[in-house]
Amino acid sequence: MEKIAIYPGSFDPVTNGHLDIIERGLKIFDRLIITILENPAKKLLFSVDERIDLLTRSLAGFSNVESASYDGLLVDYAKQRNAHAILRGMRAVSDFEYEFQMALMNRRLNREVQTVFLMTGLRWIFTSSSIIKEAAKFGGNIESMVPPVVQEKLEQRFHCLLGGDSEDSDETV
Ligand code: PNS
Repeated sequence: MEKIAIYPGSFDPVTNGHLDIIERGLKIFDRLIITILENPAKKLLFSVDERIDLLTRSLAGFSNVESASYDGLLVDYAKQRNAHAILRGMRAVSDFEYEFQMALMNRRLNREVQTVFLMTGLRWIFTSSSIIKEAAKFGGNIESMVPPVVQEKLEQRFHCLLGGDSEDSDETV
């Protein structure tokens, strides 16, 4: 039987830390479904469509992965997609309590789905989408922390917010 895992998250935006977990996950699972779900606690920068597009383009070099989004419970989507595992990355101890709570709630909601945690590579331990967005917002160099398409998108978005040209600007208009 094909071993399928859902790798869920906000992915606002996808970072090299996420790609590191995907690479490690593919050593264990036959297929990963990278799924954008709603985290009501988060204030988002990008729309679902933009996040899917960034994910898809960042994953161009990977096989056996797909990007998706789902509006609802993670365990329901896992069941729908025939996935028996949820993959999550763990950075430092600070991640533990939140991850533990979420894994136990998901287990309570569906006992057939197991959560698997993988340790992120040491070089990504301090990064997160939120802190990268903050650095990018104030002009920090985030080149080594995100895929090039994400860097470009963040630069466009913050340049735009700071009152620069719009992403879709047309010099001839
Ligand atoms: O990257 P994040 O924001 O830490 O990911 C959290 C996410 C989106 C995986 C989580 O909020 C989620 O699973 N949302 C969907 C609703 C759900 O099933 N919640 C878990 C049980 S209450």
